[in-house]
Amino acid sequence: MEKSPREITTNQTGIHEDLVDIVNKYKHSQFKKPIAQHTQESFDAAVEWLGNWQGDVIIDACCGVGESSLVLSQRYPNAKIIGVDKSVARLDKHSHYKQQAKQSVDDNVRVFQADLNDFWRLMAEQVKVAKWNISKQCVFYPNPYPKKAQVQKRWHASPSFIALLACSKNIEVRSNWLVYLQEFQLALELQGVKSEIAEVSGEPITPFERKYTESGQTCWELQTLADGDDR
Ligand SMILES: C[S@@+](CC[C@H](N)C(=O)[O-])C[C@H]1O[C@@H](n2cnc3c(N)ncnc32)[C@H](O)[C@@H]1O
Repeated sequence: MEKSPREITTNQTGIHEDLVDIVNKYKHSQFKKPIAQHTQESFDAAVEWLGNWQGDVIIDACCGVGESSLVLSQRYPNAKIIGVDKSVARLDKHSHYKQQAKQSVDDNVRVFQADLNDFWRLMAEQVKVAKWNISKQCVFYPNPYPKKAQVQKRWHASPSFIALLACSKNIEVRSNWLVYLQEFQLALELQGVKSEIAEVSGEPITPFERKYTESGQTCWELQTLADGDDR
């Protein structure tokens, strides 16, 4: 049988042998790379959009075309949803999905073009000064970077992981590569955050999820657990 082109091809069979060392290395180091101008501008636009909003904010990181951002906006009508992606080409398709979902322009969702490596750091500062109340973060089908040598490009093994966690520890990650989630789970554990992994069920909520399920692949989700909670 011919393999689906989107199926994960990797020379890594389990959790990367260097993962613990990498996560521990970044645990106490500061990511000092300057913030890119375009991300600062997008972040400023997000700050302006939220204004004095004191309610819940949900981040849809790596939102692609922002289909999941729209799903989240319907699931959480009392929250403001911020979708973030670096791809202009994908974000340009967002309005098409919005029209399909028949959502109006003055609703509770916006997508922003930005590099999350910088956007997460900017958001973490906002959270620190209690300006934003990020109640949940979704990271649906991040690029898996499945080659062993690419491990540090995965979010949980990158210097951005600390800022990601500082924004909100209520995190949902989806992937068609179980090892990605197992690594994410271990990285969380090293930061004292518990999580569980299960198979994704229900209607697909992103284009990538749709493609994977239509080609017969299993999709997985990791959800963090609050202390003493099995939410
Ligand atoms: C595999 S796609 C998944 C898109 C969408 N979540 C879905 O499931 O259809 C991964 C997305 O992550 C985005 N991405 C990768 N690195 C990023 C970064 N540093 N900052 C923002 N977005 C990034 C890519 O542009 C791409 O749209």
